[in-house]
Amino acid sequence: MRPPVGVKVGAFALAVMGTYTYYANSIPQIQSKPPAELSLEGGNVTPAQLVKAGEEIFKTKGTCEICHRIGQKGTRAPDLAGVGGRAGKVKAGLSGKQYIIESLLQPGAYLVEGYPNIMPQADKPPIALNRSEVWALTAFLESLGGAVDVTLDDIPKTAGAPAGGGAVAELKLPGDPKAGEVIFTGKGACIACHKAGKIGASPVGPDLSQIAKIQTPDYVMRKILDPAGAGTVAGFPKGVMPPMFGQTLTAKEFVDLVAFLMTLK
Ligand code: HEC
Ligand code: HEC
Repeated sequence: MRPPVGVKVGAFALAVMGTYTYYANSIPQIQSKPPAELSLEGGNVTPAQLVKAGEEIFKTKGTCEICHRIGQKGTRAPDLAGVGGRAGKVKAGLSGKQYIIESLLQPGAYLVEGYPNIMPQADKPPIALNRSEVWALTAFLESLGGAVDVTLDDIPKTAGAPAGGGAVAELKLPGDPKAGEVIFTGKGACIACHKAGKIGASPVGPDLSQIAKIQTPDYVMRKILDPAGAGTVAGFPKGVMPPMFGQTLTAKEFVDLVAFLMTLK
């Protein structure tokens, strides 16, 4: 009998993932924010200023454009043109702004047809937007075909990365990225299908050059162990990424490989 996917490194991977979750949850939820972040709480801001701030976040810190385009199909995600207009009609009982906020904070709660559940929560690492930033971004998305009516009170108080979200993002990963790169180009042969920064050029699978900017270690681990189960990236064929890395890689090789991938930003 063939062992289930990931049986060899699966238990180890779970332990590592558990550690990430533990770290993420153990960071104290302090309200103060590093100065580089946008904070609009308590300030007077016009809808136009809010939309402008949101557009900036969309293009920069939000990293949204790595997956989404406006007026053009992105590589990994739906075209967001007109999303402000259609948002109110997507899910019964949710207004447009409520749907957009849910899309940002709980992307898996409703999946746009034809797309997998791969969007990271916008207020958690690696994106880690704060509450003001989620507010501005919602205003920007509403402005794409709809009216801007979101207020700060619409954004749940729990939204936003804990202070030192940076601390979570910079969490020291176990594993040796240099050794992982050797697995990427050698034993894992990932390079046959993926570009990763300066190495590789294959268009068979998605370009992984910025994967650490848009994805959690948890997703990357799941994707390597169970490519089909983690959801097929839009625009790419199903069943092409080999499913047997859980059996062929040793635990050390696996962790080194993940450490390498998490340097790609
Ligand atoms: C890793 C790729 C990825 C990133 C990064 C990402 N998204 Fe998404 N997003 C998706 C995918 C895939 C879907 C469709 C599946 C779903 O509904 O979750 C989606 C769905 C959405 C939707 C619902 C669209 C609709 O037509 O109903 C919105 C709104 C959205 N994303 C906004 C954003 C914003 C804003 C950002 C930046 C903070 C962002 N996304 C970052 C992949 C991504
Ligand atoms: C034979 C080609 C092939 C090989 C070899 C391969 N992959 Fe993939 N990979 C793909 C394809 C095609 C996709 C997109 C479809 C899907 O999601 O399954 C993908 C998707 C991914 C994704 C998700 C990217 C995203 O944007 O969300 C990651 C991460 C990934 N591969 C990592 C790896 C790693 C690490 C290796 C080596 C251990 C590897 N792949 C080997 C073809 C391959």
